[in-house]
Amino acid sequence: MIFKNIIIESVGSGVSFLKVNRPKALNALNIETLDEMMVALVALEKDPQVRVVVLSGEGEKAFIAGADISEMKALTSGSAVVFSKKGQDVTKKLELMAKPTIAAVSGFALGGGTEMAIACDFIFASETAVFGQPEVSLGVIPGFGGTVRLSKFVGLPKAKELIFSGRRVLAQEALVMGLVNQVFPQSTFLKSVIAAAKQISANSGPAIKRAKQLLDEFSETTGLSYKLDSEAQEFGGLFGSADQKEGMAAFLEKRKATFEGVTL
Ligand code: CAA
Repeated sequence: MIFKNIIIESVGSGVSFLKVNRPKALNALNIETLDEMMVALVALEKDPQVRVVVLSGEGEKAFIAGADISEMKALTSGSAVVFSKKGQDVTKKLELMAKPTIAAVSGFALGGGTEMAIACDFIFASETAVFGQPEVSLGVIPGFGGTVRLSKFVGLPKAKELIFSGRRVLAQEALVMGLVNQVFPQSTFLKSVIAAAKQISANSGPAIKRAKQLLDEFSETTGLSYKLDSEAQEFGGLFGSADQKEGMAAFLEKRKATFEGVTL
């Protein structure tokens, strides 16, 4: 399959990478990329040769620097809900697919980037990884499942702190807070991720599938659709507001945003 914005690459022993490939935009997710990711994930899930899927970003600077702000800026409330649901569908596919999914994060994983990572079964980070949910600095909220999943990784108070502040979290802090499972040196990162993925792919696929289903079921994925839908509606509801317009314009104009502070 040929894609414009992603690369699918097998590294042998049933391990396949899905790499977001828009390095000039730090692998930001536009609609076309989300569509391609969905098609690729469906194909990877069906492919009997694939036993483990690794999500990563092309280039060392970014895993995924979030949703594409230049595309998002012009969205209306209605089209923002549709956009949010499109991203959420990709995260749901990663979370619920019958094969293990690993996020291999090198560089920036901000906004939708952190949200894609936490939709995977777990995260390995290079020492260069930077996580964060900066959406409130753009006048909106996480829209690809961050309000639903971040607390599962880091607990509710920490999730609130990260989403309210939008601050960046470096690899070592991410390790301490339980966001990532392991941190590897950048020089050996890929090798280490592939070795760990191959250790999983050597085990029984059907046994791992059952284990994944039970682990997810027992750790409250109940109400996932309701929670994601609520997030998408609230995400969309903020579009068209003065703060959303100012926040996104400020990013694209490379200046600091000034918010009105008016309660909606
Ligand atoms: N959307 C669109 N373009 C982006 C982008 C994004 N999320 N992130 C980076 N880019 C683009 C920049 O506009 C820039 O393009 P130009 O070269 O054409 O100017 C290019 O990528 C390189 O970026 P910078 O010049 O900004 O690189 P830097 O090293 O100075 O900063 C960064 C890197 C800290 C990651 C910074 O780019 C940044 O803050 N990016 C935005 C991060 C963000 O806010 N993500 C959340 C998006 S909202 C979201 O994801 C909502 C959701 O939940 C669905």
